[in-house]
Amino acid sequence: MSSFTWPGRMSLCLMACIVLEIFPLLVSSSDRMSVKKIRFCSKFRVHIIDGFSSNNLPFLLHCWSKDQDLGNHTLYIGGDFNFHFGTRFWPPYTHFNCDMSWGPKNLHDVTVFDQGKVMDWCCSSGQCYWRAQDDGLYYSNDNSTYAKKYDWK
Ligand SMILES: *[C@@H]1O[C@H](CO)[C@@H](O)[C@H](O)[C@H]1NC(C)=O
Ligand SMILES: *[C@@H]1O[C@H](CO)[C@@H](O)[C@H](O)[C@H]1NC(C)=O
Repeated sequence: MSSFTWPGRMSLCLMACIVLEIFPLLVSSSDRMSVKKIRFCSKFRVHIIDGFSSNNLPFLLHCWSKDQDLGNHTLYIGGDFNFHFGTRFWPPYTHFNCDMSWGPKNLHDVTVFDQGKVMDWCCSSGQCYWRAQDDGLYYSNDNSTYAKKYDWK
């Protein structure tokens, strides 16, 4: 039996975004400016950036979701592989994974986006940045303040 757990899986951020963004809209529905600012945390762009210190080795990348294979990509310093998508309000939820490697350093099946976790991190900007560096994989939602999330295997 599949149970209907829609509200349970719905992220706090998504609910907060809806409440915070619809409420002002109801209060000042005549204000065109507030209409332009609506974000339902439903559209995202995920970036994967080569932030390694050298180009001796290519940064190899392969990302996919349940129903999309984004193919193999080769990046060099500063390279940015990115893709955008809309999230779903019902299962199956949007989920993207990647395999990454740089010579012997690699990460297999990293979750670069999922509605329960990564979405909350980049909800405010709609941009999720992953930057591969010599010592690990870093994350940011503004491409400026990065925090390490994974060490290479
Ligand atoms: C992507 O790369 C992997 C490993 O290098 C290879 O096995 C696979 O066939 C490639 N896929 C495509 C679509 O080129
Ligand atoms: C991210 O920041 C780097 C370094 O400041 C810059 O070169 C790059 O264009 C930025 N990428 C995006 C997508 O904003």
